[in-house]
Amino acid sequence: MRRLVRDDSQASVPSFSVDQTAYTDPDVYERERERVFAHSWLYFAHESEVPTPGSFLARSLCGRPLVLTRDLEGALHVVENTCAHRGARVCQEHRGTARVFQCPYHLWTYELDGRLRAVPDDERYATPLDRAVLGLRRPRMDVYRGFVFVAFDAEVGALTDHLGGAREYLDLVCDQSEQGFEVIPGTYDLDLNANWKLLAENTLDGYHLDKLHRRVYTAYAAEGRGALRRDGGAFALGGGHAVIELTPPVRRLTAFWAPPWPESLRPTIEARRIALEQKFGVARAHKMTQTNRILLVFPNLLVLDGESGNVWLRAFEPASTSLTHIRMQVIAPRGEEAAERTLRLREALRFSGPAARATPDDIEVMESCQRGFNNSRESDVSRGLGHDAQRHVDEVQMRGFWTHWQALLGDDR
Ligand code: FES
Ligand SMILES: [Fe+2]
Repeated sequence: MRRLVRDDSQASVPSFSVDQTAYTDPDVYERERERVFAHSWLYFAHESEVPTPGSFLARSLCGRPLVLTRDLEGALHVVENTCAHRGARVCQEHRGTARVFQCPYHLWTYELDGRLRAVPDDERYATPLDRAVLGLRRPRMDVYRGFVFVAFDAEVGALTDHLGGAREYLDLVCDQSEQGFEVIPGTYDLDLNANWKLLAENTLDGYHLDKLHRRVYTAYAAEGRGALRRDGGAFALGGGHAVIELTPPVRRLTAFWAPPWPESLRPTIEARRIALEQKFGVARAHKMTQTNRILLVFPNLLVLDGESGNVWLRAFEPASTSLTHIRMQVIAPRGEEAAERTLRLREALRFSGPAARATPDDIEVMESCQRGFNNSRESDVSRGLGHDAQRHVDEVQMRGFWTHWQALLGDDR
C-alpha cells in the first residue's frame, strides 16, 4: 500500500496532509481491520453496565458478538456469544441477569465465565466430549478504572502499556469522583455515513468549535457566558492517543458552580472542589475542575469531559469505508444527588444529544466530507506547524493519530 500520510513537518515550509483515499479505499479498510483492530486493545463496555452478580450485557465489537458477564462471585468475564457446538448465539437478550447461558438450538449450557456445564443426550458422541475445550471462547479482557477493554489477539501486550499517555487523562476524569463513575442507562446509537477516522478527527477538532457550532456560542453569549478562548492545549500522547484541553470552562458540575445553576447546588459543588484540592493538590484539582478535555483512546473510544462537567463516551467501530457504528453514553459519578443528576442529563443533551445544538451539525459535516472525498484530494492537517505551543485550535493531536495509523498500516513503497 502506498503511503497516504505525507509528513513534511520538518521541511523549511512545513506541511502535513492525508490522501483522502485513506477514508474511501476498500483495500485500506481491509488493512485497517487486520492491522489496527485485530491486534489492538479495543474499548468494549463500562463495568457499571453489569452492576450485580449474574448481570450480563451482549453487544458486538467489530462485528463479533460478545457478552460481558459478572459471575456470581462478582468477577468480570468477556465470552464470545457463539456456541461451541454449531455456532448459535447462546445469549439472545441485550442485557439482564442469568445464572447460565443455554443455547436455544440443542440446549448446550454454559457458565457465566464460558465453561461448558451440560450437554443433553451426550451418549451418542464417539468419545466423551472434552468439556475443558468446549467452552465459549474468551478474548483477552482487562479493565482500567471501570473501562473494559477486549483484544482479539492473545499476544497483545498489557493494557496499561497500550493506554500509555492516555492513562493520565483517563485518571483526570475518573479522579473527579470518589465513588467512581457509572453509565447512566440509555444509549444514543448512531450509524454515521462516514469513515471512522472522520469521527476521531472531528471530535478532536478544536478549530471548528466556534465556527460550525457558532449558533451554540451565540446562545452561550446570550446567557452571559464569555466567548470561547483559544489558549487551550493539544497533545499527541503517543500510540495514536490524543487529547485537546479547553480552558476555561463555563461551569462544571464536578466542582465549578456558576449561574444560572440553582443556588441550592452551590455548597455541594464547592465542597467538592475543596475536597479535590486537598486530595490532589491545587494544581491538579484545578486541571480536573477548570479544564474541559476531549480524549481519543486509540483506536475506538472518545471521552468528552466537556462543558458543564458532562462526560460523554463515544465508542465506535467501522462497518465499511463509509459507515461507522457509534454508541454514545453519559457516565456520571455514582451516588450523586438527584438534583445534580437531573441537571447533568439536561445539560448533556443540550450539546451532544440526538436533538442537541452540536452533534447533528457534526454528523452533517462528516457525511459531507465523506461525499467530498470522492474527488480524492488531500486533507490539510498542518495547523500549528511552525509554532511552539500547540493550542486546541491546532492539529498536532490529529498528526499524532495519523502518524501512528500510517505506522500500523505500513508503507510498502
Ligand atoms: S448450536 Fe448451540 S447447542 Fe447446538
Ligand atoms: Fe463539533
